[in-house]
Amino acid sequence: MTDFSMLGLNPALLAALARTGKDQPTPIQARGIPPLMEGRDLLGLAQTGTGKTLAFGLPILHRLAGQGKPVAKSARALILAPTRELVQQIAEALAQLAHGTPTAITTVVGGASINRQIEKLMRGTDVLVATPGRLIDLLERGSVSLAKVQMLVLDEADQMLDLGFIHALRKIARYLPEERQTMLFSATMPKDMAEIADSYLNRPVRVQVSPPGKAADKIEQAVHFVAQGDKANVLREYLTKHPDELALVFGRTKHGSEKLAKLLASWGFSVGSIHGNKSQGQRERTLAAFRVGETKVLVATDVAARGLDIPLVAHVYNYELPNVPENYIHRIGRTARAGREGRAVAFCAPAEMADLRAIEKLTGQAIEVIGGAPWAEHLAEAARTKARAATTQARGQRPAGAKQGGKPGGAKPGGRPAAAGKPGGGKPAGERSSGGSRGPSDGPAKPAKSGKPRVHPALAEAMAAERPNKPRRFSNKPPVRRSQG
Ligand SMILES: Nc1ncnc2c1ncn2[C@@H]1O[C@H](COP(=O)(O)OP(=O)(O)OP(=O)(O)O)[C@@H](O)[C@H]1O
Ligand SMILES: [Mg+2]
Repeated sequence: MTDFSMLGLNPALLAALARTGKDQPTPIQARGIPPLMEGRDLLGLAQTGTGKTLAFGLPILHRLAGQGKPVAKSARALILAPTRELVQQIAEALAQLAHGTPTAITTVVGGASINRQIEKLMRGTDVLVATPGRLIDLLERGSVSLAKVQMLVLDEADQMLDLGFIHALRKIARYLPEERQTMLFSATMPKDMAEIADSYLNRPVRVQVSPPGKAADKIEQAVHFVAQGDKANVLREYLTKHPDELALVFGRTKHGSEKLAKLLASWGFSVGSIHGNKSQGQRERTLAAFRVGETKVLVATDVAARGLDIPLVAHVYNYELPNVPENYIHRIGRTARAGREGRAVAFCAPAEMADLRAIEKLTGQAIEVIGGAPWAEHLAEAARTKARAATTQARGQRPAGAKQGGKPGGAKPGGRPAAAGKPGGGKPAGERSSGGSRGPSDGPAKPAKSGKPRVHPALAEAMAAERPNKPRRFSNKPPVRRSQG
């Protein structure tokens, strides 16, 4: 069995691993760290909660040790992640290992004082962990240079390469040097995303610990068929059964999640909520209270679906099913972390039958039924039609099925990434969206192949929250590309 000491990491890192109780590398670490230590580009796919953060974090810290003080306003490694909370968490995980060494780790995220971030960046940093929107703002102000970046990480790579982020990423790519090591990590990687991934990677090693889209091993999954209007009462029963255990409840919309949190609070549950309508301070306080178990229930939109590592989470309730099936894998992956056990219950209303089927198709598994019975096809279809009509009417939108945008960029190796939709309104796709989450009635987002954008609420929400202060012009210039081969 591989031991951390066999991976060639420096003694300070080995000591830090021992200090933090990590003696054996996880499979993605054992297989991913050696090629990364050799400087290879890498696409790393492994289930949720299996240590991807240190799979890229350790080789980065190893390579940066002993490089001396960074140049002012520069960074040597850049880690991009889709949400502010995830950025903070990655930085904390790395800081734990770099403790007592001169390696500097800096975060930049939206919703926090940009002046303080500019000040911190003045000194330069070894590792910069960032959300794309705020980073672009800082780049455009000339507050940071990426010219000295040796290593680039896209965590939650499929989300970072998706329509909501791809324009932002292309902008950032123009500031990066061609010579660099690039690493992409995720628990899911739809086929079409792998193609786009190739345009950022140079002769990559692909380390795939499990089939992409496989849920973490120790999650006991179940589905409860329940009418939309009865969901709150059913949730109340589940929560009452496990009063001392942490439960994460996913809703689709900011408004709906907030309403649900208030209802649960009125029933006496200790509950918090996080979504794009909360201030960053509120989001951080709520998450901190939940992390230590002060708050037992957290109601969240997909803004909390990816990467968050809260070991005490024992239950995930999909109060509303995600309309992007990959996000089901990420949502339920907030439990059963690092070999622990966890339970995930999906609440499925008639209008969500198609979402459920898409999830089961992705995972290749039928989810065990623990309540109700699958809705008959005619009920499901009627509910979807009704919901679509209501949305169309409410928003004055064109009917579902009308063309909404271009194809998400399918870059071919050797060619430049295709444009992800038209540069409408002068803003990246994610920012063009009304900032919002789509209501349950929007119907499932179609996979990229259908020609419709794959933007889902978390992307739109995250990008809206990251929107820089000044309007930006879309540029058609291709991103920096390195020669293949
Ligand atoms: N070698 C190890 N031994 C023991 N615990 C570990 C090891 N590596 C990581 N962990 C712990 O496992 C947990 C999950 O790690 P991490 O957040 O990196 O997972 P992930 O693969 O990135 O998951 P996700 O796909 O949800 O982002 C963390 O609490 C981390 O400290
Ligand atoms: Mg992660």
